[in-house]
Amino acid sequence: MSRRYRIGVFDSGVGGLTVVQHLLPYAAGAEVLYVGDTARVPYGGRSPETVRRYARELTLYLVEQDIELLIVACNTVSAVAVDVVRACAPDIPVIDVLEPTVELALQRTAGCVGVIGTRATIGSGVYEELLHRWSPVPIRTYGQPCPLFVPLVEEGWVDHPVTEQIAEHYLAPLRTAGVDTLILGCTHYPLLLPVLRHVLSRCCFVESGEAIVQHLKKLGHTPAFNGPTAQLHLQLTDTPGPALEHILQRLRLTSVQVQQICLREYV
Ligand code: DGL
Repeated sequence: MSRRYRIGVFDSGVGGLTVVQHLLPYAAGAEVLYVGDTARVPYGGRSPETVRRYARELTLYLVEQDIELLIVACNTVSAVAVDVVRACAPDIPVIDVLEPTVELALQRTAGCVGVIGTRATIGSGVYEELLHRWSPVPIRTYGQPCPLFVPLVEEGWVDHPVTEQIAEHYLAPLRTAGVDTLILGCTHYPLLLPVLRHVLSRCCFVESGEAIVQHLKKLGHTPAFNGPTAQLHLQLTDTPGPALEHILQRLRLTSVQVQQICLREYV
């Protein structure tokens, strides 16, 4: 029996599963190997040098697993370390979240785009730079770091009243600025969508997972996916946290094999 087409996906934690949720129905017949670096999440408050070291280890690990496509399901790595990922996987197509997400946001906006993400992603300024560069007309952009969102998601506090209060605090300036489209510039954030929709009720939201699948369809360099439901293998660098089951259920990811792995240090 021939081996399934293998897609490697990684994130700092479980957030990249929001990308997998969109990818699985599209990549029918494929095998998706997801690595979440839960031993070291969150990445977003760390220095670019540290994120680059972690990104290198994750990429080299996945390259050793004979993947045919690599999806960087982490905005922080995409913002500060995608060159490292590409250099470590020279023979594999690498898709990061930036270009697809900006393209989708520009299709949706009426002229005022907000971007929320980790401190590293927003501090890099990369989303705002690409939005201005690629927009055919002048637009306004507003970046807002939301550093508490990733720990809240990893804890499973996705619809806790405290999460709503924090969201109100972070998003109020974007509402005042009249943002019509909001880039969820962190793959953990779609898990907070019910809360975010409540706080910014008139906004269009742009998720990395939806953007990546749209981009893959456009590129056409993946096989014509058909066959049985894609298989998901979930590998984590620490023991699964208490919220994992809840998050998998919320994303409707069922029959998932979960395994703990140890990343090698590469010098
Ligand atoms: N899901 C990661 C991202 O998209 C979260 C980064 C973190 O661990 O802080 O940026």
